[in-house]
Amino acid sequence: MNLAKAKEILDEGGLVAIPTETVYGLAANALDREAVTKIFKAKQRPLYNPLIVHVSDLGDIYSLAKNIPNEAFQLAQEFWPGPLTIVLPKKQSVPDVTTGNKDTVAIRMPDHKLTLELLEQLDYPLAAPSANKYKAISPTKAEHVKQAFGDDFPVIDGGQCSEGIESTIVGFEGDTAIIYRHGLITGEQIANCLNQAVTEYNSEKIIMPGQEKKHYSPRTHLIYTNDPEKVFIDHAVTKTAFIQFSDKEYDTHLVDHIVYLTKENGLKEAAEKLYETLHELDNMDFGLIVAEEVPDEGIGKAIHDKLSRAQNF
Ligand code: TXA
Ligand code: MG
Repeated sequence: MNLAKAKEILDEGGLVAIPTETVYGLAANALDREAVTKIFKAKQRPLYNPLIVHVSDLGDIYSLAKNIPNEAFQLAQEFWPGPLTIVLPKKQSVPDVTTGNKDTVAIRMPDHKLTLELLEQLDYPLAAPSANKYKAISPTKAEHVKQAFGDDFPVIDGGQCSEGIESTIVGFEGDTAIIYRHGLITGEQIANCLNQAVTEYNSEKIIMPGQEKKHYSPRTHLIYTNDPEKVFIDHAVTKTAFIQFSDKEYDTHLVDHIVYLTKENGLKEAAEKLYETLHELDNMDFGLIVAEEVPDEGIGKAIHDKLSRAQNF
C-alpha cells in the first residue's frame, strides 16, 4: 500500500496499519470519533482503554494538549522522534473515545520514515494502538498484522520494526514524572534528562487500562520462570520450546527447540527479538513455551513485564 492510497483511506475515516520503530500500529484519524471507534471494534479492545496519538511535529502537541509542563518539552526534544509516549492534559478537540474518556491524552512522535512522511501529508494526527487483537502478541512485521486481521484493512509495509517493543509511557503529577509503562527508554534516561527523580506507577494501587495481568499472550501455553529445568521436568511429555536469555548451562535434554534472545548484545537485542520469537514459536507446533527470567532492570524491566503478562494459564 502506498502513502497516497493510505491518505485517501484515512481521509475517508478508514483504518490503515502503519509501521513504527516499536511495533506496527492500527491507525485512524485521531480527531474523528467514528474512525477511532472502528479501531476499538477491529481490535476487540474495551472502550475504556485509551489510544496513543501520533504526531510528526513537536508543535502538533499544542492542538492536542494544554497546561504542558516544561518537562514534557525537555523529554520530547531529547527523545522524539522515538519510543517515548508523553501523557498530557487533553484539549477538547480530542474526542473522548480516543482517550478512553480520560482528561489526558497520550502523544508520541514515532521514528519511522514512512509513517512520518504519511503524518506530514495529513491534516490530523493518527490514533494508533498496536495492530494486534486485544491481549495478543504485538506485531513487528507486516505479515504479523496480516496473520491477525487478514484483509480487514491495508498495511503499509515498512519492514521489520527496528526496536521491537512498545514505547515507554511517561506522565506528570505536578512537575514529577511518572512512568506508566516500561520500554526502551529507561527511567534512568528520563531522570537524567529532567535532572529529577522519576516515580514508578504503582499498578498495585490502581489497574491502568492496558495493564491487565494477561496481555501480549501467545496461543501456546507459556511459562515464565527463574527455574526452567524444573519446568522441563514437570512437563517432560510435552513438546517444549525454550526461550533462553542468559548464558547459563541448563540441562535441556527434555527440550525440543531452543531460541536465544541474545548472543552478546544483551537487553536491547532481546527486546528487538522478543515478539518476533513469540510469533515464530506460536506458529510452530509446541505444547509449551518456557521463557527464562530476564533481569528486572533497565530495558529488562519492559521485557520482564511483557513476559510476566504473556503467561496464559
Ligand atoms: O510503541 C507504541 O507505543 C505503540 C506504537 C504503535 O506507537 N503503540 C501502543 O499502543 O503500544 P497500545 O494501545 O497497544 O498501548 C497504549 C497504552 C495503553 O496501555 C494505554 O493504557 C496507555 O497507552 N495510554 C493511552 N492513553 C493514556 C493516558 N491518557 N494515560 C495513561 N495511559 C495511557
Ligand atoms: Mg498493545
